[in-house]
Amino acid sequence: MEEMNDNSKKLEELQEKRATIRKHGGDKRVETQHEKGKLTARERIALLMDEGTFVEFDDFMKTRSVYYGLDKMDLPADGVVTGVGKVNGRKVAVYAQDFTVLGGSLGETHALKISRMQDLALQSGIPCIAMLDSGGARIQEGIDSLDGYGRIFFRNSRSSGIIPQISIILGPTAGGAVYSPAITDFIIMTKKSSTMYITGPAVVKDVLSEEVTHEQLGGGLVHNQRSGVAHFLSSDDDGAIATAKELLSYIPQNFREEAPRTTTRDSAEREDVSLRDVIPSDSNKPYDVKDVITKFVDDGQFFEVHRLFAPNIVVGFARIDGRSIGIIANQAKFMAGVLDINASDKASRFIRFCDCFNIPLLTLVDVPGYMPGTAQEHGGIIRHGAKLLYVYSEASVPKVTLILRKAYGGAYVGMCSKYLGADMVLAYPSAEIAVMGASGAAEIVFAREIKNAEDPAAVRKQRIEEYKEQFSNPYRAAERGSVDDIIDPKDTRMKLARAFDILETKQERCPEKKHGNMPL
Ligand code: HXC
Repeated sequence: MEEMNDNSKKLEELQEKRATIRKHGGDKRVETQHEKGKLTARERIALLMDEGTFVEFDDFMKTRSVYYGLDKMDLPADGVVTGVGKVNGRKVAVYAQDFTVLGGSLGETHALKISRMQDLALQSGIPCIAMLDSGGARIQEGIDSLDGYGRIFFRNSRSSGIIPQISIILGPTAGGAVYSPAITDFIIMTKKSSTMYITGPAVVKDVLSEEVTHEQLGGGLVHNQRSGVAHFLSSDDDGAIATAKELLSYIPQNFREEAPRTTTRDSAEREDVSLRDVIPSDSNKPYDVKDVITKFVDDGQFFEVHRLFAPNIVVGFARIDGRSIGIIANQAKFMAGVLDINASDKASRFIRFCDCFNIPLLTLVDVPGYMPGTAQEHGGIIRHGAKLLYVYSEASVPKVTLILRKAYGGAYVGMCSKYLGADMVLAYPSAEIAVMGASGAAEIVFAREIKNAEDPAAVRKQRIEEYKEQFSNPYRAAERGSVDDIIDPKDTRMKLARAFDILETKQERCPEKKHGNMPL
């Protein structure tokens, strides 16, 4: 009887201790967190995971630091909730920083808990999801916090290309702490509550006398639209977590696996006659390439990545016949779909992700060229544009290219042309594959003739027409084998479904090396 009482006491003690940990930083701080429109770490994890699947790790761990009274403080779970659970039936590792515990600041133990999740994810071949909400390095722990970051960055880098890593920024991310998300594959931010910056507004004011708010300096919109640091912008915690779940549905668990194949009622043979008219025949007229994409992908579902950044190129995931594919498309609606520094960076990073994780690539081409001018040249368009050539050439996943309209010059080559490594190149009859547009070409090649002509305008017009007839079509390219087939646009879905089916078992080995020296 006495023994039973002793046991039940011990059980009670366990329950009490656990209940205290589950209270995060206490009711008051939880209330403040909610008032800011933010959820607690465990509420966030509950939203992410399938009900009842989350197994928490190391919730009793505490800092062993004794400085500045840390040994007297109660820091539940040391400010970070870590564990493994399932998202739509698939395992993921997660860590969620708890802002209610010393501002989610990262000390030695906090970092050890995160590193453990990173190791477990890597060894088990499962995605690692980070939910960040932290004041950065725990100031009281000094070097131990900095070394903690070192541990995390090292693991982020070593895991890259082996398991998908997703960072959801749900509060502040300050100082060097921003570099963990920056190494991961995707960053999701929220409109109001998330910020990322190397130094906060106070330091900016001190050093540069610049007045700037947290949001203006490193808010969700800024990083989605201007810096390109973040890939998704959600209105709040719920939206950000839903975005992560949707993203996971398109990607495999690790580099050895394929993305899950889904079933759809949308027939792979479905025709769409409206595709014949979606692209204006006047090659200078804009249109929205997303209107083309949604007509041929499964159920019209396109999951766009980096939507607000470099809108002259569109990237994102979709499915064709249930297979997940990565789409890269010039956007004629913005700057005529020209390739510039940001577009090159955006597309290259996306292509590399897809190649890491066995997701086939579909490239839709309507591109007038690379952006000219001093701003681009001095900003390094040569260096950044080179990335696109490099990553397409390097990618060994199935690569299908569909030329919709313009494919001019170096940009034609850069958008996954046949000899840059496309496995299959299709073209619409409206495709114009040439070194440059007809009027530009006529002005150069026939400059003297036009200048000396009695009626220069008439000669110019005639030469432009001739050039158009010769080159502004897909037939010269098809004669050379640079285009495999010219298709009726209504058959786009069927042709692409067959192409990806044919290429499904493609195996390609790159020459043996440690790794290439990609232009960065
Ligand atoms: C220890 C911290 C902390 C930190 C916040 N807190 N940041 N404790 N180390 N880095 C504590 C606060 O003291 C406070 O404790 C609680 O967390 C909540 O913080 P508040 O300031 O009240 O919250 P809020 O007003 O919302 O402001 C959030 C904040 C601000 C903007 C993040 O706290 C802040 O500026 N923190 C410092 C940020 C920073 O400079 N970090 C170091 C960056 S350098 P109480 O007990 O009052 O609740 C870095 C180097 C990494 O990270 C290098 C890697 C290579």
